[in-house]
Amino acid sequence: MMDHDEPPSHKQTRNLAQRKGYAERPRRSKRRKPVIYEELCNPTTTYVTQNPPMNSMEQNISNAKLHATPLSIPSLSSMTTKMINDSHFKNISLQYFQSLSSMHKQACLDLFSLTMTKLYTESSWGLDMKIKEEEFTHSDARFLLLFQNDELSDRLGEQSPQYKSSSDGSTFLSTNFDESSKQVLAFCHFRFESSNEGISTPSSNPHELMYLYEIQIHPSIQRSGLGMKLMMILETMAAEFNMKQIVLTVFKNNTKAMRFYIDKMKYSIDKTSPSEYGQEADYEILSKVPSR
Ligand SMILES: CC(C)(COP(=O)(O)OP(=O)(O)OC[C@H]1O[C@@H](n2cnc3c(N)ncnc32)[C@H](O)[C@@H]1OP(=O)(O)O)[C@@H](O)C(=O)NCCC(=O)NCCS
Repeated sequence: MMDHDEPPSHKQTRNLAQRKGYAERPRRSKRRKPVIYEELCNPTTTYVTQNPPMNSMEQNISNAKLHATPLSIPSLSSMTTKMINDSHFKNISLQYFQSLSSMHKQACLDLFSLTMTKLYTESSWGLDMKIKEEEFTHSDARFLLLFQNDELSDRLGEQSPQYKSSSDGSTFLSTNFDESSKQVLAFCHFRFESSNEGISTPSSNPHELMYLYEIQIHPSIQRSGLGMKLMMILETMAAEFNMKQIVLTVFKNNTKAMRFYIDKMKYSIDKTSPSEYGQEADYEILSKVPSR
C-alpha cells in the first residue's frame, strides 16, 4: 500500500468508489498549456511551442497506455502460453484490446450482467448498464478477453447460445459471439492511471497504478483457477510497466471475490478504503504492490 499525504475526505472516497462505474467522474484535462520559448539566435523572432517533458510517472502511464501488444512481452507471453496449455478447457485464447469492437463490448456487458446484476442491484449504488457501457468505451479502458475459439462446449449449458430474431426475420447468435463463433469466457477491464485520478484532494506525491475495474469469469468455468491466472498476468503486466500498485473495488457482500482477492491473491485493504476511516460503505478498496 502506498502512503498518501492525508486521509481522503468523504468526497474523495466516494470518488474512488465511482471508479467502479456508478458515475464516471469528470476528469481534469491532461492537456498541458504550451510553453513559448523565444528563439534568440533567429534574427526575426520566432516562437516555438513545446510541451514540458513528462515526469517519470507520466511517462510510465503513457508507455503502458500506448503499448499495443503487452502480451508479446516475453514474461507475459510465457505466462499466457502456460495458462492456455495448463487449462483443461480446450481451444481457448487470450487477447489484449486497447478498445473493444461493439460485438466484444456487448459480449462483456452480457457476461457482466450474468455475474453482477444481483450484487449491483442490491448495493447502495444500484445498476445502470448505460454507465457501465460508457465505462467500457472510455479511451483509457484496456481489456484482456479470454475466448473459447470453437463451437460452444456443453459446459456452457443453457445460458448460451441465445438465438435471437432480427427485424428481417433471420436468426442470429446473440452478441456474445463474434463472426468466427468465439465466445468470451472471461474478461478483465483495467486502466493505467495516476493515484490522483478521480481524487478531489490530490496528493502532492502521486504514483502510477493499474486500476482493475472488472474481472469476470463465466459462471460455468469459475473456480477452475482461471481467475487466479488472469490476475497473475495482470500483476506481471503492471510490474512490467512499472506501476507501483494494483487497486480494485469490491462489494463487501461479494464473499467469493473477497476470499479470492484477500485469501488467495493476497490483496489488502487500501488506505483509501472507507473502512479505514470508520466510514459506512458496502465496498472495500483493495490493493497490492505488483511483483514480477
Ligand atoms: C471472483 C472470480 C474472479 C474468481 O475467479 P475464479 O476463476 O472463479 O477463481 P479461482 O478458481 O482462480 O479461485 C482461486 C481462489 O479464490 C477463492 N475462491 C474463488 N471462488 C470462490 C468461491 N466461490 N468461494 C470461496 N472461495 C473462492 C478460493 O480461495 C480459490 O482457491 P481454491 O479453489 O484453491 O480454494 C470469479 O469467480 C468471478 O468472476 N466471479 C464473478 C464476478 C466477480 O465477482 N468478480 C469480481 C468483482 S470485484
